[in-house]
Amino acid sequence: MSRASLDKQPHEVAAMFDGVAAKYDLTNDVLSLGQARLWRKAVARAVDARAGERVLDLAAGTGTSSLPFLAAGAYVVPCDFSLGMLREGKKRHPRLPLTAGDATRLPFADGVFDAVTISFGLRNVQDTQGALREMLRVTRPGGRVVICEFSHPTWEPFRTVYSEYLMRALPPIATSVSSNPDAYVYLAESIRAWPDQPRLAARLRSAGWERPAWRNLTGGVVALHRAYKP
Ligand SMILES: C[S@@+](CC[C@H](N)C(=O)[O-])C[C@H]1O[C@@H](n2cnc3c(N)ncnc32)[C@H](O)[C@@H]1O
Repeated sequence: MSRASLDKQPHEVAAMFDGVAAKYDLTNDVLSLGQARLWRKAVARAVDARAGERVLDLAAGTGTSSLPFLAAGAYVVPCDFSLGMLREGKKRHPRLPLTAGDATRLPFADGVFDAVTISFGLRNVQDTQGALREMLRVTRPGGRVVICEFSHPTWEPFRTVYSEYLMRALPPIATSVSSNPDAYVYLAESIRAWPDQPRLAARLRSAGWERPAWRNLTGGVVALHRAYKP
C-alpha cells in the first residue's frame, strides 16, 4: 500500500487516502486520543455558519468534517480529490453533496461561498499558496476562511513530549488500528515540516487574505487560523 513522500505528489497523496478511507475516521479518533471531536467543535464555532449560508469544506475526505455545518442549517459542499474517501463518505452520509475537486483548481465559480474551511487538508496540498488563492477566489468579498491544521505546541517541554509521541508512539499504534500504517509515518513527517502559527498567518496574508489570526487547541498541537476576503 502507498504512502506519500514530503514532496506531496498529488497522485500519491490521493492514492494514500484511497487506501486508508475505510478505517480513516476510527483511526483518527484513536490516534488523536479522542481530541478530534473537540477540534471539530472548535472549527464549527470559528466558522460560525448561519442557516442558509454556503460553506465549502475543502479536503473533506469522508465528509465527517462537514457534518457540523449541515447541523447548523448551512448548505455545505464537501470537496476532495480522493475518490476512495468520497465513496466511503457517500456510504456513510448519503445526504451530503460530496464533490470531486482539486484544491488548486476548484470546480466552482468566483465568489460563490460565504465561508471556506479546510481541516487537516492544507498540509497535504503540494501547492499551498495556489490552494489559498483558489479558496480566496471562490469566497465572496467579506467572506471568511478557517483552516484547522496540525501545528507546533507552544510550551517547550510539551513540544518535546509531543515530538516523541509523533515519531515513536504513533507508528506502532497506527500499525494496530490503520489499514496503512505507513501513511502515519508520512503524517508524523509532514506535521514536523509544516509552518508554525505565525508563518501560516503570513502565508494567508501573501495569498491575499486579510486580518489573519489564530487560536491554539490542545496547547498548539492543532491551530485554527481565520482570515477574511477583502
Ligand atoms: C486528513 S484528511 C482530512 C479529511 C477531513 N477534512 C477531516 O477533517 O477528517 C485529508 C484529505 O485531504 C485531501 N486532499 C489532499 N490534497 C488535496 C487536494 N489537492 N485537493 C483536494 N483534496 C485534497 C485528501 O484526499 C484527504 O481526504
